[in-house]
Amino acid sequence: MAATPDGRTPAGGEGGADGRARGAEAPDHARGLVGEGVDRGPASVPTGAAPAIHRMPEPREDVPLPPAKGDSELGGATPDDVEPPADALLVVRGVKKYFPIHKGLLNRHAGDVKAVDGVSFHLRRGETLGMVGESGCGKSTTGRTLLRLVEPTAGQAFFDGVDVFTMGKAELRKLRRRAQIVFQDPFSSLNPRMTIAETIREVLTIHGLAKGRKAADARVAELLRVVGLRPEHAVRYPHEFSGGQRQRIGIARALAVEPDLIVCDEPVSALDVSVQAQVINLLQDLQREFGLTYLFIAHDLSVVEHISDRVAVMYLGRIVELADSRELYRNPLMPYTQALLSAVPVPEPGKKHQRIVLQGDVPSPANPPPGCPFHPRCQHPLKDADCAQYVPPLADKGGGHYAACIKVPLGAGHGPGALPVIQHPAA
Ligand SMILES: Nc1ncnc2c1ncn2[C@@H]1O[C@H](COP(=O)(O)OP(=O)(O)OP(=O)(O)O)[C@@H](O)[C@H]1O
Ligand code: SF4
Ligand SMILES: [Mg+2]
Repeated sequence: MAATPDGRTPAGGEGGADGRARGAEAPDHARGLVGEGVDRGPASVPTGAAPAIHRMPEPREDVPLPPAKGDSELGGATPDDVEPPADALLVVRGVKKYFPIHKGLLNRHAGDVKAVDGVSFHLRRGETLGMVGESGCGKSTTGRTLLRLVEPTAGQAFFDGVDVFTMGKAELRKLRRRAQIVFQDPFSSLNPRMTIAETIREVLTIHGLAKGRKAADARVAELLRVVGLRPEHAVRYPHEFSGGQRQRIGIARALAVEPDLIVCDEPVSALDVSVQAQVINLLQDLQREFGLTYLFIAHDLSVVEHISDRVAVMYLGRIVELADSRELYRNPLMPYTQALLSAVPVPEPGKKHQRIVLQGDVPSPANPPPGCPFHPRCQHPLKDADCAQYVPPLADKGGGHYAACIKVPLGAGHGPGALPVIQHPAA
């Protein structure tokens, strides 16, 4: 890969092996504005002052970027450079999912929607990784690609050591038992013409998990109890339940196969706030009881705060920040994460708070901006022409706190110092 004299990869160059670099230099763009909002401590801005970026680095002349030989060394190790922990259930390496765009009478390939554009992370057994970002940033596509509900474009995803993307039919069938998905809208994912018992029995039958009708009905009753419903609910149809109850049924159906991993794709986004808390508590209880591992997708950082051990923030198909949950909320490094956090309400009566308002919409993943994908909306005071030219790798800025920003220096991440402690169920 061609590099500049200081070793960084220009966006107009050939690009890294993962295709991170692209495009030519972009014009200068408007900065974000600060408006009324919420003060969340470190990410806050004093009233009336210019937007304060937490851990704002010194001016660039005083803090030269770390020496770099290529993208991955621009600011520290990337998740791809780091050996996953021994208890990793899922190891994701450079996963991409592009949806082709076809045009014209000849159905010519005119481009791609880069829904997921080089995502790497791991999930430990019994861990919850929260995944957040604005609509269209690729959260659902990531979850669906990892479970091979859609075919990947590139990358690897090792589930218990076996690459999901190269699995044959028999292995995929086993994966369907060990990895489940719970959707945002339980109503559309439940067959309206089937009773709850029929829905769950169908899953048990497909996977050969209950011998005979009596055993299946006993299992259905047990699953309903586990998710806080009553066995007599089994004879009802989906429309006879509230939204929260329907989500409990969706969870019971996922649990029927005794999975190790559940991708929770916005499982509470359609529910009232009070019901959201109940469903999140239920998911936490089930995790403790059955040793489940969750990839928990949500729009908003407030939803994932209490359930997540670590949080990944996505933007335009990439993870732009990844850290231990407490570290991310106390010490957000990315201007994007800081803006998302400033929108989270904090119930502190009388406290003045500031909100960083993101300017404009998320650019199209079919035509992402060159350089840092966030640069057209970035409010970082050190944003400059380099941001439109260099593609920041997701780099460890200290203590396992990863951020994709060339203006965040090494050492900015405090990190927990160690991996989060996960309570594994008794063997
Ligand atoms: N089957 C598809 N064909 C073409 N484009 C798709 C397809 N599925 C998703 N996309 C596009 O991929 C991008 C990412 O979509 P995705 O649903 O993963 O986002 P998301 O982060 O889950 O958004 P939301 O928060 O709204 O659910 C979007 O631009 C979307 O339009
Ligand atoms: S590299 Fe950092 S400062 Fe530059 S545009 Fe991206 S997020 Fe903003
Ligand atoms: Mg989605």
